[in-house]
Amino acid sequence: MTIDIVQRASSQNAPALVLLHAFPYSSKMWELMLPYLHEVDVTIVTTDLPGFGGNPAREWTMSGFAQDLHRSLVENGISRTVLCGLSMGGYLAFAYYRLYPNAITGLILADTKASADTEQAKADREKFAQDVLARGPIAAEEQQLAKMTSSSTKEDAPEIVEKIKSWMYETNPQGIANALRAMALREDSTDLLPSIAVPTLVMFGEEDVITSPEEMRSFAEKIPSATIASIPYAGHMSAVEQPRIFAEMIRGYLKGV
Ligand code: MLT
Repeated sequence: MTIDIVQRASSQNAPALVLLHAFPYSSKMWELMLPYLHEVDVTIVTTDLPGFGGNPAREWTMSGFAQDLHRSLVENGISRTVLCGLSMGGYLAFAYYRLYPNAITGLILADTKASADTEQAKADREKFAQDVLARGPIAAEEQQLAKMTSSSTKEDAPEIVEKIKSWMYETNPQGIANALRAMALREDSTDLLPSIAVPTLVMFGEEDVITSPEEMRSFAEKIPSATIASIPYAGHMSAVEQPRIFAEMIRGYLKGV
């Protein structure tokens, strides 16, 4: 797999911030937020999951991807890692932490959850996968788009909704189906929470209807070192809807890592 080093820190001790994207998008989803991190002395790494960002689709699992990512980070000399995952990216961050707790100096978990899918959620994902394979990304638009953003984003920034929609259409249907199956198979990470020993920032859009603020608060409270922050006027795609605030929270958090 490839990782993209989009910014190099000047100091050797600075950590690397590794950004893990949401479903069904690519590392493009960070493009609005990244400019607000330019003056921070941190190495920034992005990566695309199989089937996203022009990567060929293949079957994958959360832990398999975490192993590939770890290998690539090590090959690129990156050892102090702060993982930042939004939604599906958060599931990957948990999978990585389970395998390599000592390789991580910090965790940023945005609009995500620690629990696994229920049997009903797994069955719904399989139906969604079949639908997207039959009809293409329009199935993702119908299923997901309305739930992605806050009412403020829909009213005041319709161009953001359009951008999110265009990213859905850049993804290949097999990649979407494979990601749905990988999410359905992910492990429950609830047991990990009390043992997370690194500074953790848990943040979410105040109007997130996919991973509710209540659910996020309740898992964050089980992480001993967690700071909880909510982002006003944002829904599930908080980093895209309020990129400046999202980046400011990361900046504040990185000062303490
Ligand atoms: C995401 O934004 O990555 C998805 O909503 C995650 C999911 O479907 O569980």
